[in-house]
Parts: sequence; C-alpha cells; structure tokens
Amino acid sequence: MSDTKFQGWLGKNEESVKGKMEWGEFEPKKWTEDDVDIEISHCGLCGSDLHMLKSGWGPTPYPCVVGHEIIGKAVRVGKNVKHIKEGTRVGVGAQARSCLQKDCPDCSSGLESYCGNGVVNTYGSVYPGDEGKSYGGYATHNRTNAHFVLNIPEGLDSADAAPMLCGGITVYSPLKQNGCGPGKKVGIVGVGGLGHFGVLFAKALGADRVVGISRKAEKRDDVLKLGADEYIATDEDKDWAKNNVRSLDLIVCTVSSDKMPLNDYLTMLKTKGTFIQVGAPDGGNLPPINAFTLIPNGIKVGGSAIGSPAEIAEMLQLAADKKVKPWIQKRSMKEANQAVIDLDAGRARYRYVLEN
Ligand SMILES: NC(=O)c1ccc[n+]([C@@H]2O[C@H](COP(=O)([O-])OP(=O)(O)OC[C@H]3O[C@@H](n4cnc5c(N)ncnc54)[C@H](OP(=O)(O)O)[C@@H]3O)[C@@H](O)[C@H]2O)c1
Ligand SMILES: [Zn+2]
Ligand SMILES: [Zn+2]
Repeated sequence: MSDTKFQGWLGKNEESVKGKMEWGEFEPKKWTEDDVDIEISHCGLCGSDLHMLKSGWGPTPYPCVVGHEIIGKAVRVGKNVKHIKEGTRVGVGAQARSCLQKDCPDCSSGLESYCGNGVVNTYGSVYPGDEGKSYGGYATHNRTNAHFVLNIPEGLDSADAAPMLCGGITVYSPLKQNGCGPGKKVGIVGVGGLGHFGVLFAKALGADRVVGISRKAEKRDDVLKLGADEYIATDEDKDWAKNNVRSLDLIVCTVSSDKMPLNDYLTMLKTKGTFIQVGAPDGGNLPPINAFTLIPNGIKVGGSAIGSPAEIAEMLQLAADKKVKPWIQKRSMKEANQAVIDLDAGRARYRYVLEN
C-alpha cells in the first residue's frame, strides 16, 4: 500500500483552457503490479493539452489533468516490473497502455501507438475494466503501466528530456521512418514545440538540408540558429510556394488548422516525395486536397502518431549522443494556468516545461 497523495491541476470543463484549471487531489488509476508511481519533477506543455482541456477532439472526461511529457523519480514499482528501479529517474510520454498481446499485429511489431485494440492516453482516457481514468503530469505524481515508463539516459537534463517524450518523438518517428538522413532535403512546417524538435532531429539524423516553414518572418533568426539551413515565412515571403516548388523529399507538418495552405505545402515536394501530417486539428478537418497536387508528381500524404517506447529510447540516446539541445522555458508548476494561456497565444519559444 502507498499513502501517496496525487494532486494536480484539474481541468473541470471547457473553460479550463483559458487558465482556469483548479489545483486539487485526484484518484489515480487503480494500482496494479505492472505500474510505476512517479514523483514528477518536470512536465512539458504540448499543444495536445490545449485540445484536450477544451474538448477539441470530442468530449473530455473531466476532471482531467493534462501533461504527457513527464519526468520524475520512480517512487513505487510494481512487482512484475523488471526494467525500472525504485528511486531512479524515469519518463512517460503520451501513451499509457496498449493491448500488448502477442497476436496484436501492432503491439507485436513495435507499433504500440497504433494498437487497433485500443490505446489509453496518458491523460483523459478511461481504462478498460474498473481501473479508472488516466491523469497526466501537471501534478505531483503520475501512475502509468511500466511498459510505457522509460529510463532516461545520463547526459540528458531532465527539463530538456521531458518535451522529447511527446514533442520530440512525434517528429522523430516520421522523420526516421520516412528516410530522413544524408542525401535528403526535409521541410518542417509549423515551427512551434513539435516543429523546433523537427528541425533539431532532422539535422541530428543527418539530412542534407532542413527547411523551417512557419507563418511569420520574426522566427527566421531563431530557426536558423536551431540549425535549419533555410527558413520560409508563408505569410510574408512573396511567392514562397512558386519559388520552392519540387524542392523537398519529405515534409512533416505540425500545424493543426484547416486554414493552412496545404496544397502549397504539397507543391514543395519532389517527385515521389512524402508529406506526413502530425498536427491534429480540433474536429480533425484538414483543408481539401486537390488531386492534381498529388497525381502529377506521384506524392504520398500520410499521418503519424507519437512513437513506440523503443523508438523513444532510441531518440533519447541519439539526443544524448549528439547533444541535441531543445529550446525550453522553465515555468513553475504553480504557474501552469498562465503557461497554458501563453502557449495558446503562441508565445512559447519553443517549449514550456513545468518544474515542481
Ligand atoms: N500526431 C501526434 O501523435 C501528435 C503528438 C503531439 C502533438 N500533436 C499535435 O501537433 C500539433 C502541434 O503541437 P505543438 O505542441 O507543436 O503546438 P505549438 O507549439 O503551438 O506549435 C504549433 C505551430 O503551428 C503553427 N500554427 C498554428 N496555427 C496555425 C495556422 N492557423 N496556420 C499555420 N500555422 C499555424 C504555429 O507556428 P507559426 O505561428 O510560427 O506559424 C505554431 O508554432 C497539435 O495539434 C498537437 O495536438 C500530435
Ligand atoms: Zn503531446
Ligand atoms: Zn495491441
């Protein structure tokens, strides 16, 4: 038994996204011997937290504690757990459970984030059976199934590692799986939290050229300093689409708006190029795609969801080895409401990380 009190920032309704989360106690999922309890030291703020607080992807099971870029200390480790030791530094990303059955085509091949038998998210999900709900990391503690709890390599600062657990992996996975590396020219659309990791990891994976693509010119200096070879400001650079036609092998798009110039982005792909959407708009709609942006250059449009624990571990090791340094801004856990407001207003440069 444990007498740990779980406390966090509770979103109680759709207004909570306006900085109206309330601090309070919550009942974590029912303990099993497959679980790990974590005393949270850091938690990054992801764009998904905003969608979930405002029920943007469907009704949120309030009360909801968001936050799925969690780092902390393992303070209780289930008897069945082999790879986590009590007292060590661990992390949790956006996923808390998949079926993990041997006959699951996804789980048995390292594709847990696509499990067709049901994914439980780190927050805002209801567990099957009577295990309760999942609660995230704007909190003192988190309880998650150990399969989705990772050891954090030495050499990575906790505040830097936290946002890699969702923001980092969500771009690392589609970059890696779609051939980002030497000989490739890669575009990252929407240089926010995910997008800035896109630039960092595309470089770390050895792409020949990395192009950051956002709306305003004011980010140009930052994005070049992050390591991009080029920057395009779609609201301000005249004829940007025409000037960059058929120039990229791969694009990863983090924008979550049905107003984005999607067809213009697609014209930037070379023949047989690939466009991967990771930004997840409220309601899910993207702008309509014109068939004649797809057919004449034989391009592919796809999507990608976070990454598996094994892929996260690989990414963290690469980050440690190549000294990938995210641009984060630390905020006190106490100011979570203001941090949510600031993220929503596009003020993060480029990821807020709450600190307990
Ligand atoms: N697929 C997955 O597994 C997964 C995982 C995590 C997050 N996500 C989703 O990815 C999205 C981005 O998350 P994030 O944490 O990176 O958010 P973020 O830090 O707010 O960054 C999003 C960026 O998109 C750009 N943008 C916003 N509105 C736009 C518009 N109307 N038109 C064009 N560009 C726009 C902004 O860049 P500029 O202002 O510079 O243009 C902004 O920096 C969210 O929808 C989130 O839920 C998906
Ligand atoms: Zn996220
Ligand atoms: Zn499965």
